[in-house]
Amino acid sequence: MPTNHLTTDHLSETELAQRRTYLEANNGIRGLEVLDPSEVERAVKIFHRDGFVVVRDALDADQLAFLRNTTDAVMQEIVSLDPDRSGNRGSRRYSFGGSSITRSMLHLPAWQMLVDLPTVTPIVKAIFGSADYMLRAASGDFCLPGATGYQPLHADMRDFVDPRSTPFSSFADQRGHLSVRDLPCPYVCINFFTVDSTRLNGPTRQIPGSQHARAPMPTLAEEPEWMRVSTVCPAPAGAVQIRDVRAWHGGTPNLSDHMRAIPNIEFYAPWFREPIVPCITTRDHRGLSPHARAVTRFSVVDSADELLTGFEVTPTPPSLRPTAGGMSNG
Ligand SMILES: [Fe+2]
Repeated sequence: MPTNHLTTDHLSETELAQRRTYLEANNGIRGLEVLDPSEVERAVKIFHRDGFVVVRDALDADQLAFLRNTTDAVMQEIVSLDPDRSGNRGSRRYSFGGSSITRSMLHLPAWQMLVDLPTVTPIVKAIFGSADYMLRAASGDFCLPGATGYQPLHADMRDFVDPRSTPFSSFADQRGHLSVRDLPCPYVCINFFTVDSTRLNGPTRQIPGSQHARAPMPTLAEEPEWMRVSTVCPAPAGAVQIRDVRAWHGGTPNLSDHMRAIPNIEFYAPWFREPIVPCITTRDHRGLSPHARAVTRFSVVDSADELLTGFEVTPTPPSLRPTAGGMSNG
């Protein structure tokens, strides 16, 4: 039974039960490879082939517990500000950075920890062929149980548009020959799984090999069923999904009984640049590892300024609503 195209949270119990049964049987990329952190060369090969790669044990038990405790507390705080559960990336879906008044989560030690990990840094260096990349963002997404809809497939970056639409665009080929999709990978997003990624808890769907695709992305109504179930699961808590943000992806239903968080860290390639939001104090920056200090060098708040932190939930912007294509990950 194919899932329907609803993006509403209002499914009947029968519809929910049917969707659960269908996803249990069909959801997930067949033969999804989950690599060991030591397989750096293979990880890079799969990343360039598929536009993403999954690596287990990126976090050890203590790091995972620390990150999970932090994300649990942050999610509770954000959700308490949104009694209707309207979300800021569609109903019951939230961006961590988009809920932070700094537009980033790097003020928190749990996110600072993610910038330079012995399991992940070698793979990122190998993807870019350089250690001289830079932090774009420290953010991520979470969804609540009852987020029963699908986000349309989308990419997280675009060619240059009017800065009044978004400050986050820069690439423009005045000759009209190249788009950002023709370039080598300009930036990566690393999503951390704080819980097991399962067929039912809203795994990100990801279309392999789509990072350079120029074809128009299918709308929800046009999307074939094989794409609908092309989700990154199963994968264990503590794993990471490293993705080329141009690859087509989108959120899927969370029919589990728990919140599912995928905090992230995003890096620009050494040769690419879009705006970077200052989000870490000089004092916190000094406490990072040498490599983390280097990659966050453009993220430090002016020492004369104070970093005010806190959360707010503003309505999902029109450009990020499900009908218009979103910029979050589920
Ligand atoms: Fe996204």
